Amino acid sequence: MKSPSLPAAPSWLIRIPEIFAGIVPEIIRRLDPPSCTKLGHEYWLLRPADPAALRRAELARFVRWNLPVQHSWPCGPRTMDGFVEKAAQALVRKFAVRQPQTLLIGLLHPGSRDSYYKQLASNLRGRTLQLFPPTAVAPHAAEAQDPNAPTLFCLLGKEGLFCGMQSPRHCNGFHPGGTRYISQNPAETISRAGAKLAEALHYLRLHRPPPPTHAHWLELGASPGGMTSELLARGYRVTAVDRVLLHPRLAHSPDLRFFCGDAATFRAEPDACYEAILSDMNGAARDAIAAVLRLATPLRPGGLVIFTLKTGGATTLPEIQRLFATVTALAATGGLRLFAQTHLTYNRHEFTLFFESAATSHSSPRSDTSSSSQPR
Ligand SMILES: C[S@@+](CC[C@H](N)C(=O)[O-])C[C@H]1O[C@@H](n2cnc3c(N)ncnc32)[C@H](O)[C@@H]1O
Repeated sequence: MKSPSLPAAPSWLIRIPEIFAGIVPEIIRRLDPPSCTKLGHEYWLLRPADPAALRRAELARFVRWNLPVQHSWPCGPRTMDGFVEKAAQALVRKFAVRQPQTLLIGLLHPGSRDSYYKQLASNLRGRTLQLFPPTAVAPHAAEAQDPNAPTLFCLLGKEGLFCGMQSPRHCNGFHPGGTRYISQNPAETISRAGAKLAEALHYLRLHRPPPPTHAHWLELGASPGGMTSELLARGYRVTAVDRVLLHPRLAHSPDLRFFCGDAATFRAEPDACYEAILSDMNGAARDAIAAVLRLATPLRPGGLVIFTLKTGGATTLPEIQRLFATVTALAATGGLRLFAQTHLTYNRHEFTLFFESAATSHSSPRSDTSSSSQPR
């Protein structure tokens, strides 16, 4: 049975990160399409037997981004005379009346060294916007979109042009293909995990605003400190915990307190009230979520938990499903409700999970409130 909230579309463009290449056949088998075409680097064009399956967690967590395709032009744009003008006229004819909040064009081969399609996408966007009625959001401000209002997303590559309208939230990203790519300068970066957090905070906006400036974060598994430095750069206060020291560059940050030791022995300050908890601990996911739960009492009601779920030895779809079930069930017993999950560009064998504290007060007794926290 088709979900009524899903736009009718004969086909869908889905993006599955390369890291899941080994389980793509199983994912596609479960979507049961009559046909399936690989496009670009990580895209598949298919007609799922039941499009609602794309939104079920067990498959949705592997699909970084999705789009109902309502207009496709499978052609060779490079050899096509007047491609930009013809494509722009078709987009206006089909979509202008539906008033998308903006028009965004991405690439089917985003990492390609060939800049031809990047330029073509920019020309097509420029020409289409000349013909379109004014849009509410400037194309260069993708994160200013209303996550729940429809956007006209287009993907372009040597295989042609594939377009559809859907909200960023239902697509699972503000940008065509996913979240904003965060480029890192190796000379300035403490660890690549910093980009993972920056990307997670962009992604979070699809669901809720990030914590306000000066909010207090508890960070578990902080060393060497890529994420810590991203939090501090955003004006947050951080209590960081790790068995290993942080990068010396962070040593004199006034908004940082550091506890060097195991998360299992860390005791929150007696008056602590965290706006958010961030966990990027490696090791068994079960132990990591247990540490988060033990320290979640000082999390304010509605507080945020960003949790990197390391998949460890789980590689098949059922194994990963079991791991998710275990972690989310444990989290639920501690009053943490999962509200979003995704695989980010900077995630490897791991997912980023977003929980919200369902607790309504801080009145529950704390067993972890001695003052052994050690400022550094
Ligand atoms: C992937 S690294 C974290 C990278 C870090 N988030 C960053 O931004 O640079 C994982 C870290 O978790 C820490 N860790 C794992 N288990 C821990 C535990 N039980 N208590 C404290 N730290 C732990 C490790 O020492 C390691 O530094």
